[in-house]
Amino acid sequence: MKRPKVGGIFLATCVGSLFMIILYFQNITRPADQFGGKDLGPGKTGRSPLQTLYNGDQSDMSAVQTSLRGRREHLEEACLAHTRKRRVLTPEDLRHLIVDDKHGLLYCYVPKVACTNWKRVLMVLTGDGRYRDPLAIPANEAHVAGNLRTLSEYSTAEINRRLRSYLKFVFVREPFERLVSAYRNKFTRSYNTAFHKRYGTKIISRHRPDPQPAALERGDDVSFEEFVHYLVDPRTQREEPFNEHWERVHSLCHPCLIHYDVVGKYETLEQDSSSVLRLAGAEGEVRFPATGKGTRTNGDMAAQFFRNVSPFYQKKLYNLYRMDFLLFNYSNPEYLKFR
Ligand SMILES: *[C@@H]1O[C@H](CO)[C@@H](O)[C@H](O)[C@H]1NC(C)=O
Repeated sequence: MKRPKVGGIFLATCVGSLFMIILYFQNITRPADQFGGKDLGPGKTGRSPLQTLYNGDQSDMSAVQTSLRGRREHLEEACLAHTRKRRVLTPEDLRHLIVDDKHGLLYCYVPKVACTNWKRVLMVLTGDGRYRDPLAIPANEAHVAGNLRTLSEYSTAEINRRLRSYLKFVFVREPFERLVSAYRNKFTRSYNTAFHKRYGTKIISRHRPDPQPAALERGDDVSFEEFVHYLVDPRTQREEPFNEHWERVHSLCHPCLIHYDVVGKYETLEQDSSSVLRLAGAEGEVRFPATGKGTRTNGDMAAQFFRNVSPFYQKKLYNLYRMDFLLFNYSNPEYLKFR
């Protein structure tokens, strides 16, 4: 008779439970209950950012707070309507959440949505006086892994505690403007040779009929249309996850599993950023840097880029980014040619 493999089963269970760490006890009830009004969270007022957000005097709730609440409610409803089973978060899912223990903040960074400036601001906030002016921090330094801590680095208990009690925020942007912005930045700037080599060469070899040898070698003249073909090609995501610059916010930040307290928008960046800093009690420590509007990708610019994309591919691309449109209440761009 075969000996039952108890040892094996035991081992499998252990390994299994390590990976299925629960991580998920965030409740939807609000922190008022958790703090019971006694806990002195971070912030100068002795109130945590969450208390400030949720226990605000209803009667003088500002227009900004009303709009933030509207976005939260929209997100919650859209998640219920468009996602199926809830699953458990793993540490891998939390690599984009930056932690500020001093102010009780969790920020999910989304490339092409002012994330360099938000990382700079968080370096000032967590830097113990090392930095004062966010803009004095070079952009490349803001992106060095290790300058800021991410939630995935903590133990399960530490992760759960922060998910429960910190102010969680994310900044989003109209999905196709973000995508065009990523394309312009990574494929039309001559200095981005790493992206040309890594992605451009592959895109040209797969999606350009009869490419010139020089183009194949350099990968530096990818058209927006070719980029779109690459994105909707099923092989692309089968081979590896999308690069974070064009990965969907839904996949980077898990907005249906992590209940964000503030959904900031790029379209109202200045206003929403000050709201977050005010809630964090950090207004006096740092100002969110003002950005020039000159070269920002906007809807008109996105429309130009989509002119050469056929309705068939527009539709496929829309389906790919559909969740980001739905969850964050962005309507179908007018310039799209399918209905
Ligand atoms: C969603 O978008 C529409 C149209 O842009 C707007 O009127 C509405 O207020 C938005 N809803 C929320 C909850 O933000």
